[in-house]
Amino acid sequence: TQPKRLVGKRVLLTAGPTFEAIDPVRGITNSSSGKMGFALARACAEAGAEVTLVAGPTAQATPQGVKRVDVISALQMRDAVFANLAKQDVFIAVAAVADYRPAKSVDHKIKKTNAKLTIELVPNPDILAEVAAKKHAPFCVGFAAESRDLARYAETKRKAKKLPLVVGNLVQDGLGGDDNSVTLFDARGAHPLPPGDKLDVARGIVEHIAGMLKKTKRS
Ligand code: C5P
Repeated sequence: TQPKRLVGKRVLLTAGPTFEAIDPVRGITNSSSGKMGFALARACAEAGAEVTLVAGPTAQATPQGVKRVDVISALQMRDAVFANLAKQDVFIAVAAVADYRPAKSVDHKIKKTNAKLTIELVPNPDILAEVAAKKHAPFCVGFAAESRDLARYAETKRKAKKLPLVVGNLVQDGLGGDDNSVTLFDARGAHPLPPGDKLDVARGIVEHIAGMLKKTKRS
């Protein structure tokens, strides 16, 4: 059995993709199964934390003991995160948030014609960066899914968003499957975790977070 390293801690996570409606039947999304975020929520709950999971549209089952809040779009995800942020000790942003959403939402299905169609997109808020910038921010963990130059991009992201910890994975390793191999980037350097099942990897991430929380003596 795993040691309960997060007893008395509250952890908020985002997971899955977001879906940005173009019209009632179409939209823009990211490919994300939600598996890694749900595995992390489960690992946090197993470690004794009180866990809230804000989930975009996925087929994943809610892990035992986890409070789940379902959302569709990035704006809904941001609202749900801020509505649940009070008293959280840790925020782990695993969601693959769509970077852009259609500028206008259309009430009726767009009809096909032979003319060119342009859809204007506006940037979505960066939920993780907004949470990390708060005055009494929880311990914030970001994910960096990259197709190359993992260490460089992950470190850049960690510094740009002012995060104590970024979990980096090469997308060809992890996306959609049951296994993952990740490297953790913090102020002390790069820490590769043994590759494995997403739940085992999640437990390794939780161990690392628990160790960092102990050192920083927050709350
Ligand atoms: O900058 P990039 O999107 O690659 O950063 C990824 C990290 O930021 C992930 O932890 C992701 O959940 C989070 N993120 C977010 N809101 C966004 C975009 C990314 O919380 N709009």
